[in-house]
Amino acid sequence: MDKLNNTSNFIKTINGIHCSQTPIWLMRQAGRYLPEYREIRKGAGSFLNLCMNPKLSAEVTLQPLKRFDLDAAIIFSDILTIPMACNRDLKFIENEGPHLKPIKNEREIFELELTSINYLEPIYECLSLVKSQLESEKALIGFAGAPFTIAAYMIEGKGSKNFPKCVSFFQNYEKSFMELIKKLESFISNHLIKQIEAGAEAVQIFESHAEIALKENKFKKYCIEPNNNIIRKIKRKYPSIPIIGFPRKAGNLYADYVSNTNIDCLSIDQNVNIKELLNNLKQKKVRSLCFQGNLSPEILLKGGKPMIDSTNKILENFSSVSHIFNLGHGVIKETPTKNIELLIKTIREWNK
Ligand code: CP3
Repeated sequence: MDKLNNTSNFIKTINGIHCSQTPIWLMRQAGRYLPEYREIRKGAGSFLNLCMNPKLSAEVTLQPLKRFDLDAAIIFSDILTIPMACNRDLKFIENEGPHLKPIKNEREIFELELTSINYLEPIYECLSLVKSQLESEKALIGFAGAPFTIAAYMIEGKGSKNFPKCVSFFQNYEKSFMELIKKLESFISNHLIKQIEAGAEAVQIFESHAEIALKENKFKKYCIEPNNNIIRKIKRKYPSIPIIGFPRKAGNLYADYVSNTNIDCLSIDQNVNIKELLNNLKQKKVRSLCFQGNLSPEILLKGGKPMIDSTNKILENFSSVSHIFNLGHGVIKETPTKNIELLIKTIREWNK
């Protein structure tokens, strides 16, 4: 533990060492709610150009840390860069979100390969650039989507509430679907390992659409097991790199996710009752770990007293465990920057 003496509050907290200040970062902390982001984004032409330009993506990664008293930078990239590197024709359409060439049949899965890991090289370059500019009290987080969430976009071809094409695909062709999950497991593990080698001090796995698997009683097979296979692969090579898991909207199965994966930190959405979750974990005698998340992005959007009250309640409810402050999902693009200033002030006041 001595070697953690000179590290950031973020790294100490995620390792279970108590810090007098709660570390803070926000999902989607770099993005369209920031005027300085919109400026760079305009110059880059498209979101993907921005992601694939190491200098610009490094600049955008650091923007929120210049403006706010945050404890960590998350690399500016996207979970869909993996299908992009598999030649699935990824495009981001204004006001519509991502579109890709949908996987239509089993053959396309068997033929799927990462055309070139070099495709993702600009992301690793961005990490090295950010690392060289980041103060030592700040941590650098890398990330990737989890296999099920990426597979859902690859089959659906776009974002969706219920991902009907993906559901019907796995209901009809489960063997091929598992083949896709297995391939993604390997691409994602390698991508995360490369991010660590380029300077990421922690990584987060986004299982943003866990709810789709959960509704079909496939949470264990499609989410928990593939997430854990990735975690095991990373831990085997880099045992001291903390891993954050975010099986969004997993409801009362968050506890199962914790029991069956070797994550260091659990990120939770805004629908979770923290006290119930902690009790549930205690009853199941689950090891202690760090927690993150839970503030509703809608409440942050509105700001004011309701936001202060929610923030204090989250801090209170997490006061007996290691806690990194975060939202239950990404910052909404209309969020005023003054609300983020007030949020951070509220957290710092609570720590006094
Ligand atoms: O958190 C951060 O600050 C790091 C950057 C980051 C982005 N995407 C940038 C982004 C991260 C961690 C992601 C993860 C991501 N991407 C997820 C998992 C988290 C989640 O939100 O559930 C998912 C599902 C995606 C896929 C994706 N990317 C969608 C559905 C969209 C469109 C929705 C939208 O907000 O426009 C994106 C685009 C995207 N990813 C933007 C940003 C800043 C907006 C692009 C723009 O500037 O036009």
